[in-house]
Amino acid sequence: MRKVLIAFPLIALILISCFFAEPVPANPSEKISGIPASRAADSIHSIIEANRTIYSEVIVERLAVTISLKASENWKNENTLPLPAQFLAFSSHMIKEKGLDMDYRLTSLWPINVNNKPKSKFEESALQTVLKDPTKIQTAIISLKGRKVFTAVYPDLAVTEACASCHNKHPNSPKRDFKLGDVMGGIVITFPIDDNGKNAEDPLIAPEVVADYLHAVLESDRTVYSKYIVNRLQNKNIAFASEHWWEENALLLPAQFLLNASDLIIEKQLGFDFKLISLWPINSHNGAANEFERKGLENVVRNPVRPFIVVSKLGGKKYFQALYPDFAVSAACVSCHNTHPKSPKSDFKLNDVMGGIVLTIPVE
Ligand code: HEC
Ligand code: HEC
Repeated sequence: MRKVLIAFPLIALILISCFFAEPVPANPSEKISGIPASRAADSIHSIIEANRTIYSEVIVERLAVTISLKASENWKNENTLPLPAQFLAFSSHMIKEKGLDMDYRLTSLWPINVNNKPKSKFEESALQTVLKDPTKIQTAIISLKGRKVFTAVYPDLAVTEACASCHNKHPNSPKRDFKLGDVMGGIVITFPIDDNGKNAEDPLIAPEVVADYLHAVLESDRTVYSKYIVNRLQNKNIAFASEHWWEENALLLPAQFLLNASDLIIEKQLGFDFKLISLWPINSHNGAANEFERKGLENVVRNPVRPFIVVSKLGGKKYFQALYPDFAVSAACVSCHNTHPKSPKSDFKLNDVMGGIVLTIPVE
């Protein structure tokens, strides 16, 4: 992955923030029905995949070459990076701990860990289908413990040489001829749906619920990255986060990790987007761009329990926007912002609301 990535999302974000600078609030009597489950799953998947790709390419592969920092299963004791599969599992686990009923995991027809085998006939045949044609995302509505659950299976690709070579060499791997670009397995995403009989194939999900799912993935990936990668490696003097990560063979800042993901997601043209803003921004482009963002930030600083939401209209299209608090989840967040020469605030504390994540989702 090239350095271009970092400039590109910034331009895209600036364009988008201009675009949304003057959204017109929608008439409250206008009904919004929801977001099709398949598009909700595509959007959730796009965040998981973007962060997985960035972690594998820009952290694992680049740092192995530049500073000989490896990824290994026993990362805690070996002072290495967690495996990409562990990164994904920690993040998914964090979402479950918060009590959200959305779930995702890796699976494969040739798993290193037998627990990652397909869990149903549907998952097995879905893996076989995406293996033949990775564009054929497989979905199904399954009954689980008396509830209807929407399930989608996406291909998981060997995006770096390291994906293939580590699996090919692993003693527990039943397959040893993976190549760059191969479908190595799948990502299974599940969430419950209401059983109201309508839109049986692709039911609509309430926008608040979809926003909560998308935000949960962004927040847990962001937390895993800052706690287990940035904060831990900085404390052990193994690696540091820097704005000039490319030149300095350093870790991306948590904000850069998030923005690089946003770039990969925009390429997918799913129509949703997110950005990181604050009342005390280091980069003045990250201040509140309009009334909704200013009010929303003030609101989540005072009451960081629920997001601040609005439905707006732009060019005849309706958008659901939700602003969630962004917390200082690790000591690294606090110390870097408090000491940064361009930071207008120098007394952040652990767990403070430092800013907000704004999600913008097109609705029907
Ligand atoms: C340094 C070694 C290493 C690298 C690099 C690596 N993996 Fe894995 N991968 C593993 C191990 C070990 C597991 C089993 C983890 C567990 O216990 O669940 C795993 C799990 C998986 C699984 C779940 C099925 C299974 O084999 O248990 C998939 C799918 C997968 N990896 C794909 C990838 C892809 C795609 C990449 C690159 C983005 C990648 N892996 C990079 C070692 C690696
Ligand atoms: C090593 C330094 C560093 C660390 C660690 C760091 N940040 Fe930042 N953060 C920055 C810089 C620099 C920017 C501005 C990036 C840009 O130019 O858009 C930024 C941007 C932000 C923004 C957008 C508003 C602004 O200040 O421009 C928020 C919100 C934010 N960070 C919160 C956090 C949180 C929460 C954490 C921990 C999860 C964190 N930061 C960790 C340096 C850091």
